[in-house]
Amino acid sequence: MLADLAVGKVLSGELVTDLSLNNNNFAYVSQFVDNQMVMETPRDELKFVLDNQGCSQNEIQLRITEIASYLGIIDLLDINEKRLSGGQKQLVNLASALILKPKVLLLDEPTSQLDPIAAEKLLQVVHKINEELNVTVLLVEHEIDRAIRYANRLLVMEEGSLIEDAPVDKGLRDIYQNPHLKNYLTQVDRLILELNLPTDQQLPLSNKEVGLLINQHRTSLKSVPRKILVDTTAENILEIKRLNFRFDFNGPQIINNVSFELKRGQSYCVIGPNGMGKTTLLKTMTQQLKPQSGKILFAGHKVQNDFYQKVFVLPQNPAILFMEDTVAEEIKYQLQLSRRDTTFEAVLEKFSLKGLEKTSPYDLSGGQQEFLALALGFIKNPQILFLDEPTKGLDPNKKLELGQMLNQFQKTGGTVFVNSHDLLFAARFFDQIAMMFDGKISQFTTPTVFFKDKFFYTTEINKALRETFPLALSWEDIKRSES
Ligand SMILES: Nc1ncnc2c1ncn2[C@@H]1O[C@H](COP(=O)(O)OP(=O)(O)OP(=O)(O)O)[C@@H](O)[C@H]1O
Ligand SMILES: [Mg+2]
Repeated sequence: MLADLAVGKVLSGELVTDLSLNNNNFAYVSQFVDNQMVMETPRDELKFVLDNQGCSQNEIQLRITEIASYLGIIDLLDINEKRLSGGQKQLVNLASALILKPKVLLLDEPTSQLDPIAAEKLLQVVHKINEELNVTVLLVEHEIDRAIRYANRLLVMEEGSLIEDAPVDKGLRDIYQNPHLKNYLTQVDRLILELNLPTDQQLPLSNKEVGLLINQHRTSLKSVPRKILVDTTAENILEIKRLNFRFDFNGPQIINNVSFELKRGQSYCVIGPNGMGKTTLLKTMTQQLKPQSGKILFAGHKVQNDFYQKVFVLPQNPAILFMEDTVAEEIKYQLQLSRRDTTFEAVLEKFSLKGLEKTSPYDLSGGQQEFLALALGFIKNPQILFLDEPTKGLDPNKKLELGQMLNQFQKTGGTVFVNSHDLLFAARFFDQIAMMFDGKISQFTTPTVFFKDKFFYTTEINKALRETFPLALSWEDIKRSES
């Protein structure tokens, strides 16, 4: 099985499997959503997988219907692959794996591009498959907040070695003791361990348990929400007026009369369900797609030809930015173009790319590709950074680094506009958040206002503590009163 997946070579060691298993019993879903489909539509893709297994047409029909309704993708079956959003592709890839009725399911960051509700549903489906059909699941993740609730064992890899293999409770407690790994802990468990509140429950704690525990100790605790300074006098850097966009003349209105402004030095995050038009909005704002109507003003003027020299756009799939053969060439080229006073070495250091200079950008891990693309963006020192799902593939430490870099960039007057499914990232690092739904966008508001009354679209800490500390969004927002 490994030999089938790996592009490299196994140097030594042996893979021992149950003798009754063959390659068809293993299914694998890659982290790279764009490379998996070989056929044009999800229906043809699923059909292709089953045709290869020699299934009858009747069985093919039944199995496609079953899996598509299970994953809620019936409406996507006949849509061309090029028209699927990132999250939609991720669901189709999972369907292609599950349709094989595997005994072992290998999932690489399966929810990284799903909206919070779709992500939760997908994990529930995987859990059901694990429990009801006795399928073994190995799931690889950076963000364990959701998935850990369904796991029996926690394994931790560091620099190619397995440094932990333990039942979940022990694994989480060990993670907390390790300074490199602390940030991987779920938010609610981190809160309780940081505050050192006594509990004899096993980790991971449920939101309900944490809510009760915090309530018991509420008099000795205080909420210290992140301070946000919204400078209403700042100049508008980008004005979007009554923007309308549809892909086809008779197709749905993907951007529906959308108007808003971005101010200099502020950060904006747009969240919302898969396929609601976030990427399309970003592409329309950045002139990659031409709107049917509406106006876009950059620093008070109609957008000029030099727009791309003044902004940077990180696409949902960063690999499409790369043009050179190696990481070093990619960085050097950008440095040459922008004539910044930063050095090649400093860029490698800042974006954790040391040792990868000679690697092809396409052979980097998902997170490294994301960081290389961000490096190219920061070198450019643009006035606006537009980032589409920048945290996918990033581990929690890298996410913090990215958040801090963005905040730093803002301090120098830069504006940040991001699409993200990562609610915690939005809550921690952004000034303004809005939700996109059916081509419309809500008003931008501060994270505390935005998340306060949300039921699903909010952080785990906010869900757990809404009765006691409704403004808290991350574990750092609650402290001991005496501190
Ligand atoms: N090239 C295209 N032609 C026609 N329709 C498209 C095309 N690209 C996207 N769409 C459709 O437009 C809608 C919005 O897609 P978009 O990629 O903007 O969503 P999104 O909000 O970014 O989703 P995600 O969160 O999954 O990334 C979707 O229903 C998608 O199927
Ligand atoms: Mg998108």
